[in-house]
Amino acid sequence: MTAHLIDGKKIAAETRKNLQIEVGELVAAGVKPGLAVILVGDNQASRTYVTNKQKSCKAIGMESVLMELPESVTEKELLNHIEELNNRDDIHGILVQLPLPDHISETKVIETISPEKDVDGFHPINIGKMMTGQNTFLPCTPFGIMQMLKYEGISITGKHAVIIGRSNIVGKPMGQLLLNENATVTYCHSKTDDLASYTREADILVAAIGKAKMITADYVKEGAVVIDVGMNRDENGKLCGDVDFTDVAGKVGSITPVPGGVGPMTITMLLYNTVQSAKNKLNYRNQG
Ligand code: GUN
Repeated sequence: MTAHLIDGKKIAAETRKNLQIEVGELVAAGVKPGLAVILVGDNQASRTYVTNKQKSCKAIGMESVLMELPESVTEKELLNHIEELNNRDDIHGILVQLPLPDHISETKVIETISPEKDVDGFHPINIGKMMTGQNTFLPCTPFGIMQMLKYEGISITGKHAVIIGRSNIVGKPMGQLLLNENATVTYCHSKTDDLASYTREADILVAAIGKAKMITADYVKEGAVVIDVGMNRDENGKLCGDVDFTDVAGKVGSITPVPGGVGPMTITMLLYNTVQSAKNKLNYRNQG
């Protein structure tokens, strides 16, 4: 058996086309969705991510503002910049690229972003809403994965979903979103004993580990759905996921490739959240 390929690039392109139409309608109604991205310091990977986010905004007609701050910026200065953006009418989404330098508290930064503009879905208020099943901004990577599963018509109710990884950005919210859709969820992580004994029981396996090609055919159940969040370099310097694609694809039912799987969906959901924020504002204005 050869697995069905879940084409994140295609799903992302279709979603972005629909978003572009919505942006056009919002612009016609006098609200151009605007995203502000703050980049602190000179991390090359962060710069690449931020550039991609900006390009993607512009490509669908949104406004994108980049604020570059030196590594030496104080926490107070950064928080003041966020407050300014909170108060700007033309900005609907604020994203502070992580990680931040050690002298700045990520928690404080996230808690300073207005929950109404927290398009990353990292603010504790938004996390609380997600946990209680309320409508809110959802963290972009898990949200993108849920969209892919929906697009593929993969049923979640009653399924056993196993998540490898427990980060605040991916693993934890991923499990919660799957639980909200009635999956039975198991969290595994770097301290889990006998990892394969859990992953072999997964109907839906989400790998967010950060180790190139770690998940081989021994780790998966026949016919499973495998979602690869990894973004690593292999021994030849080639981009690869946490899953050994060639080994696993012969056994499972569906699988996301790297590149072209989860990655394109993450930015797409950031655009989606920012458009949603602009729509919320327009609705508020029309009602007020
Ligand atoms: N760094 C790595 N992933 C992310 C993300 O989704 N949002 C932000 N703000 N920083 C990140």
